Amino acid sequence: MQHWDVIVIGAGAAGLMCAAQAAYRGRQVLVVDHGKKPGRKILISGGGRCNFTNLHAEPSAYLCHNPHFVKSALKRFSADDFVELVERHGLDYFEKTLGQLFCQDSAKDLLNILLTELQYSGAQLQMRCEVLDVSTTSVGFELTTNQGPLECDSLVVATGGLSMPKLGASPFGYQLAEHFGHHVYPTRAGLVPLTLHEHDKQRFEGLAGVSIPVQIHSTHGPSFTESLLFTHRGLSGPVILQTSNYWQPGETIEVDLLNGFDAQQWLKAMARERAKVTCKTLLSEKLPKRFVEQLVEEHSAASVAIGQLPSTQRDELAYLLNHWQIKPNSTEGYRTAEVTLGGVDTNELSSKTMESQKVPGLYFIGEVVDVTGWLGGYNFQWAWSSGWAAGQVV
Ligand code: FDA
Repeated sequence: MQHWDVIVIGAGAAGLMCAAQAAYRGRQVLVVDHGKKPGRKILISGGGRCNFTNLHAEPSAYLCHNPHFVKSALKRFSADDFVELVERHGLDYFEKTLGQLFCQDSAKDLLNILLTELQYSGAQLQMRCEVLDVSTTSVGFELTTNQGPLECDSLVVATGGLSMPKLGASPFGYQLAEHFGHHVYPTRAGLVPLTLHEHDKQRFEGLAGVSIPVQIHSTHGPSFTESLLFTHRGLSGPVILQTSNYWQPGETIEVDLLNGFDAQQWLKAMARERAKVTCKTLLSEKLPKRFVEQLVEEHSAASVAIGQLPSTQRDELAYLLNHWQIKPNSTEGYRTAEVTLGGVDTNELSSKTMESQKVPGLYFIGEVVDVTGWLGGYNFQWAWSSGWAAGQVV
């Protein structure tokens, strides 16, 4: 049987980072993955340009049942450290917005950097190798795979989350954790479009493609100010993906359609200064026409001249603009989700090394862990940071 110092299950962002780091330390490392090619999520991420980190990757941008858990790894291998690595390889990149760094040309360039690092370090990669079972031995672990048995001293689980099953996502990491007595928080789709109840779907389906810069105050999280996009199925766009991480089924979402601009003061001033102008015309100065037409259809006040509108109705219209409410039905699920919330309970892992506190030599890194970042490069940064942290000790 082949014996390795370290076996990493999963040739995604976290696994590739961890393997190279461990091999640079002189460890004999094998990365196994059941897919045909490594780093498939990297290739499709960020519209093919991979939003590979975020300059503001602070702990507050992560959801985790133990919010302190991410601090150590993010500090020891930060966004700056990853930028230093890609610059050393001459990657062309740019900051799109809000600290989000993207490849200038293609996500392939980033994956090539990781594979070059893997090659320099001497770590080996075995694709189409599915791990079916893992058991402990007197020296470490024995893996049953579709390519025969493997043995190692340290085992790193980097199998990712459940999103995008067609890209190789599997529940194996969670099952393995439970098999070894770890608690796993229930998983759900994150950074995912929201679907609407049938009546709302019919109300808004004519708006598919309309995008509005808005602010959403999440009930259980922070406020996000980005674009909301109407789709044929419901709501999407960056602000909705961010909100989806915090949204619970049954909850109503409150949207500030004017992005912090005080509608009550504005409409009051307009009633004085432009009394003959219809509300519809005024609203069209702030919102997309197609959306305003929908509002007009539903609110008779919108077609009246602002000066004619009784102040109570004007205030109601203003409230609607700053507090537009919509109750999603569900999410689009793992088919389109970018990440998986929940996962291996961090209270049973070392925040410094990612090692299991239950099974010495067993490590969990990347998305399989109960750590989920916001949209904008935070999830890859967690993969790099946690992979790096484990790579220093395995
Ligand atoms: P990852 O999923 O990358 O890798 C896990 C690997 O394990 C896979 O290669 C899989 O084949 C393998 N595996 C699973 N089970 C196995 C088994 N039983 N045996 C062998 N191998 C097994 N994030 C970000 O920061 N910026 C972005 O731009 C994007 N964009 C984006 C777009 C889309 C469409 C998606 C779906 C996701 C993103 N993300 C993102 C999220 C990001 O891709 C994700 O958080 C990281 O890839 C997680 O890295 P991991 O290495 O943990 O898992």
